[in-house]
Amino acid sequence: MDSMHQEVVVGSSGAMLLGVMGDPIRHSKSPVMHNAALKALGIPGSYVPLHIKPEGLEGAVQAFRSLGFRGANVTIPHKVEVMKYLDMIDEGAAKVGAVNTIVNDNGVLTGFNTDGIGYVRSLKEEACSDLSHKHIVVLGAGGAARGIIHALTHEKPGLISVINRTESKAKKLAEEWCSLADIRGLAETEAKEAVASADVLINTTSVGMHPYIEDIPLPEEWIPEGIVVSDLIYNPLTTKLLQRSEEKGCTVHGGLGMFVNQGAFAFEYWTGQAAPVEIMKQTVLGSF
Ligand code: ATR
Repeated sequence: MDSMHQEVVVGSSGAMLLGVMGDPIRHSKSPVMHNAALKALGIPGSYVPLHIKPEGLEGAVQAFRSLGFRGANVTIPHKVEVMKYLDMIDEGAAKVGAVNTIVNDNGVLTGFNTDGIGYVRSLKEEACSDLSHKHIVVLGAGGAARGIIHALTHEKPGLISVINRTESKAKKLAEEWCSLADIRGLAETEAKEAVASADVLINTTSVGMHPYIEDIPLPEEWIPEGIVVSDLIYNPLTTKLLQRSEEKGCTVHGGLGMFVNQGAFAFEYWTGQAAPVEIMKQTVLGSF
C-alpha cells in the first residue's frame, strides 16, 4: 500500500495515541489488531477503545484534538454524525456520506472512509481479481453498502443491482450514483430474478451476524452455482450464506479481509508506514 504521510507524528507524550469511537465498543477487534501493528513496526503508542455515547460525541472529538491523539477509527453509530465536528472531509468520504477514520494533523482533523477501498481490495485479492463487466448484486443499502458500492463503481462493473428491504433507499442510491456506473435499485420482490444473473453477490446487511447465525439474507435455492458470494460479516467468519454458497460450488469471501484492510489503510494514514497486514489478520483470527 502507498505511504500517505512521510513523518510519524506522535502525541505530546512521545507516543502515538490512537483509538476507536463507538457505542457499543467492547467487542471491537480494532484495538488488538492495531496494537499488534504498532508493536510489529516498533512504533511507541497505544490504540484504545473509546466508548462514546451519541450525546458525548462532540466533546469526545474536542478531547481527541486537545489530548493530541494522532488518529481514530469511528464506528457504529457515529460514522455520519462525526462529520460535522471535523475540519475537513476527504472527497471520497464526502461522496459516501460517512467517515470511519480521522487523522489529526497538528489540530486539524480530516475524515476519511477506508471501508469501501478496504473491501474491494480484499474482494479482488481473495475472490475475484477482475470485476469489470460483472453483474454485481448488493443486498442492503445502508452505510456499509454505500461505502462499498462507491468503491465498486471504480471497477468498471457491467451492472450493479442494489436490493433493499426498504426499496426507496436502493432507488435513491442508484439515482445518486447513476453517472458513475450502470446501477439500479430494486425491491426485495425483484431479488430472485436479479440474483439469477449475478456474477458476484454481496451481503451488506446484518442478517446472519452473531448471535443470529442461523439467519440467511435470501433463500439458499436462489443462489446460482459457481458464482462469487461475499459477506461483509466477519463474526462468524463463515456465515450461513457462505456455508450454503460453498456447498453450491461458489467462491466465497468473508468480511475479515475487509476489516483488516480498512484498518490497514487507516494505519497508513496515521503512521505513514506500510501496515503489517498479515500480522494484523493473524492477530484478529487469534482473538476469536
Ligand atoms: P450499516 O452501516 O451496517 O450498513 P445500516 O445503515 O443500519 O447499517 O444499514 C443496514 C442495512 O441492512 C439496511 O440496508 C437494512 O435495510 P433497511 O434499509 O430496509 O433498514 C438492512 N437490514 C437490516 N436488517 C435487515 C433484515 N432483517 N432484513 C433485510 N434487510 C435488513
